[in-house]
Amino acid sequence: MAHCSSVFTLALVASLCFGASRCYIAIPLKIYPGKYNVSSEVDGTPATFQDDGNGLSLASDPTGTVNFLDMVNNLQGDSGRGYYIEMSIGTPAQKLNILVDTGSSNFAVAAAPHPFITHYFNTALSSTYVSSDQTVAVRYTQGNWEGELGTDRISILDGLNGSMTIHLAAIQSSEGFFLPGINWQGILGLAYPMLARPDSSVEPFFNSVVEQLGIPDVFSLQMCGTGVSASVVTDPVRGSLIMGGAEPTLYRGLVWYTPILEEWYYQVEVLKLQVGDQNLNLDCREYNMDKAIVDSGTTLLRLPVNVFNAVVDAITRSSLIQDFSSGFWEGTKLACWLKGETPWKFFPKLSIYLRATNTSQSFRITILPQMYIQPITEVDGTLDCFRFGVSPSANGLVIGATVMEGFYVVFDRSQRRLGFALSNCAVSGGDALSEITGPFSAEDTAADCSGRTLRDPLLWVISYALMALCGMILIVLLLLLVLPCRRRSFSGDVTDESSLVRHRIK
Ligand SMILES: *[C@@H]1O[C@H](CO)[C@@H](O)[C@H](O)[C@H]1NC(C)=O
Ligand SMILES: *[C@@H]1O[C@H](CO)[C@@H](O)[C@H](O)[C@H]1NC(C)=O
Ligand SMILES: *[C@@H]1O[C@H](CO)[C@@H](O)[C@H](O)[C@H]1NC(C)=O
Repeated sequence: MAHCSSVFTLALVASLCFGASRCYIAIPLKIYPGKYNVSSEVDGTPATFQDDGNGLSLASDPTGTVNFLDMVNNLQGDSGRGYYIEMSIGTPAQKLNILVDTGSSNFAVAAAPHPFITHYFNTALSSTYVSSDQTVAVRYTQGNWEGELGTDRISILDGLNGSMTIHLAAIQSSEGFFLPGINWQGILGLAYPMLARPDSSVEPFFNSVVEQLGIPDVFSLQMCGTGVSASVVTDPVRGSLIMGGAEPTLYRGLVWYTPILEEWYYQVEVLKLQVGDQNLNLDCREYNMDKAIVDSGTTLLRLPVNVFNAVVDAITRSSLIQDFSSGFWEGTKLACWLKGETPWKFFPKLSIYLRATNTSQSFRITILPQMYIQPITEVDGTLDCFRFGVSPSANGLVIGATVMEGFYVVFDRSQRRLGFALSNCAVSGGDALSEITGPFSAEDTAADCSGRTLRDPLLWVISYALMALCGMILIVLLLLLVLPCRRRSFSGDVTDESSLVRHRIK
């Protein structure tokens, strides 16, 4: 009896082992719950525009299905609680706000009530909803949900004509996913099929849009929340998700491109980090340990622990203020100044060097302290308080909203590259809060900082070791199991059970 039931344990062990590579990829959605208010919107003073004429944008779209200007300002939100787009889902249309996340690949909407959301998608009321009778579960760096896979018709309201059939997950239950103060009811994963759950056959939303509407395989993001993060904004700030290309009025100067290393997350290669004028001088593989990605669904700039510690050291040395409590850097404490005394002059700029498409060159994206020393509205009436917009990470470097808000980011999937240009809304009092400079020679840098050549063999070794271990356990369990089961089945009293056992083994 005991031996026979160990088959179930065996099945469990086997599925854990063989499923391991999938089970342990957590998707880095990390959004801070809104706890604070903010008083004013960002100063969106437009600067002078200059088209770099790189031909990405479609002056006139032959299909007539996209109008970039109509898509401008189609997002709302802030870095603290995410940027979302309004969509019409189902027939008749049900309107929902959907979080824009370039760090995952499932399109999922609430399909049951939850205390933190105002409404949800009622699948029973949509005549075009088709369930595929399959459940799916997705786990993010923060939060998870479980739901039912299906398809339905959707139309996006602004600038993208036509409706299409897309895969969606109807969320039935979740934990830590919907948060207090959010104003969205679903998530739009814009990364590649490889991250889709349960597997890449669930075609991600943007792949379906490109295929069904025939638009170019490019989208671009502008998020305008600099200076208002982590707050319950009465008037949420704006942003734009341009599908099919790049809209020239949203950026200034040139678009600088970095190759997409692997098509799962938007993985890029970071060559160097600089605090003020000081190069951190770490082995460049440390910056990409175990990957470096661009993710709109992550609030902060997240750095591998070693890199994070080096950045904090360098900021402390150059900040003129040496006595911050460690809680400030750890994100558990705010730093406050008397009202009106802006602290930014005490802090250095942060620069990230990215590999250029000419791989012997790089360019750097720079954020000013206004972007990473982030205001939190008055905790006390006489003080202005700020939090540190950088945090340590155990699963790679993440260029999150804190950095993305400085730039117009072009996800040029058709040419497997990410473009960065100065965002025209990352401006305060007429001064730009971000910079892009280049090209720099990258010839002194290692040929490959991504660690891919290191990581892959290691993964293989680990998976072979796991398989060997599983195999051994399997053999031992089979031996323990088969002999006693046989003996008993001769006595004729456990036939049902042994057929059950065989069934499970299959
Ligand atoms: C924050 O919001 C609450 C509730 O909306 C309001 O009573 C309070 O005055 C706000 N505080 C600030 C500083 O705006
Ligand atoms: C797109 O929508 C606009 C305005 O609603 C309309 O004038 C245009 O004809 C539409 N284009 C297509 C291809 O349906
Ligand atoms: C790439 O960069 C190198 C070093 O700056 C330069 O010599 C070379 O001409 C560049 N190649 C192209 C195709 O621009």
